[in-house]
Amino acid sequence: MATISSVVAREVLDSRGDPTVEVEIGTSDGARGWAIVPAGASTGRAEALDLRDGDSERYDGRGVLKAVGNVQGPLRQAVLGMDPTDQPAIDQRLCEVDGTPRKTRLGGNAILGVSLAAAHAGAAVSKVPLYRHISRLWNAGSPAHSPTHSPRIPLPMTNMISGGLHAGGNLDFQDFLVMPVGAPSYTVALEWIVRIYRRLGKLLIDGNYEGRLVGDEGGYGPRLPGSRAVCEFVVRAIESAGLRPGEDVTIAIDVASTHFYDGSHYRLKEVGGARLTSPQMIEYLERLVDEFPITSIEDGLAEEDWAGWTELTRRLGSRVRLVGDDLFATHEDRLRRGVAQKAGNSVLIKVNQVGTLTETMRTMRLAQTSNYGRVVSARSGETEDATMTDLAVGTATKLIKIGSITRSERLAKYNRLLRLEAELGPDAINW
Ligand code: PGA
Ligand code: ZN
Repeated sequence: MATISSVVAREVLDSRGDPTVEVEIGTSDGARGWAIVPAGASTGRAEALDLRDGDSERYDGRGVLKAVGNVQGPLRQAVLGMDPTDQPAIDQRLCEVDGTPRKTRLGGNAILGVSLAAAHAGAAVSKVPLYRHISRLWNAGSPAHSPTHSPRIPLPMTNMISGGLHAGGNLDFQDFLVMPVGAPSYTVALEWIVRIYRRLGKLLIDGNYEGRLVGDEGGYGPRLPGSRAVCEFVVRAIESAGLRPGEDVTIAIDVASTHFYDGSHYRLKEVGGARLTSPQMIEYLERLVDEFPITSIEDGLAEEDWAGWTELTRRLGSRVRLVGDDLFATHEDRLRRGVAQKAGNSVLIKVNQVGTLTETMRTMRLAQTSNYGRVVSARSGETEDATMTDLAVGTATKLIKIGSITRSERLAKYNRLLRLEAELGPDAINW
């Protein structure tokens, strides 16, 4: 049996120029695994700690040398000699060494770097691509007698227009995305997305809006008056691409409402700074859904507005995918509460919200057995690391959310999906 023989970490930069943790793991038989940790901007309160150095000059306190030190010290000690293919044991050990619920002692970023690099090393030792290794882990952890799942290609939901904390404009909502639900393959879906994106840019410029300025994930960041105007532009862009809104392509929104919730009200600039109650916010979203071909809404309500989420789901859950991002923070216990309270019908999956691959897959499993949909998602701060693609493919997840198609940290994932579709064949699409 090959064992983990080296663990090296370093500080590298992400797509916002922020430091992040890179980990490389070597094994006794000469295999290696490598991963870089992503980071969010609109982070939920329940997320694992993204440990930053906090000293003033260096990277304005955003350095990760403490996290790197934690990898090279206690975390390295914990996993040396372990079997790199035994991901559950590795992740359990990592959690034990930290010993806190939110990984506040050693840092979720430090722990995740080791967890993901170990998964890559496990795949290398087994001489299979990462998605196959993850598929094995996924099927090994499935309940007895349930059918095994082959790797599948997910449908991308792609950012077109950015607002909220991801763009400097005035839009309250964070993400306006398209879902090419009618595409016959991923390769075609990607071409549709690029076509729509280009038509949208032209429409914005023709309308004297900023069709060149982009947000953190590469979506346009125009100073449009509000979400209705954005949806109108997106519908027109779909049409001008020769596609049918609502049939070939639908719209998804990430409201990311936690950042404009003040504990009791939703403060929306697009309605003149009005403070909406939770029922009023639900009505506001319902009107948007009535008017536009919207099939998915993420974080329509804030992370602590559980009662609102239940009502939102009662009102819209049968016709719209309602995805919990900040609400669930990829935590199994929070998703369990959501299932019990009928809050949302889908969960966003971001590995760094919880901090290990095994815990991430446990949350995905709970979603599967509870009939909740799953969306594997990137963070707004990303890198050339494309591990999330293999996670989505290996767990046969139907949806993937990567950001826009004009930034290489995103294209690392989109392009990997092109390769995996070629490898898995046309029947592997999962929509
Ligand atoms: P974040 O954005 O990485 O800044 O949290 C992504 C999202 O909210 O889905
Ligand atoms: Zn989100």
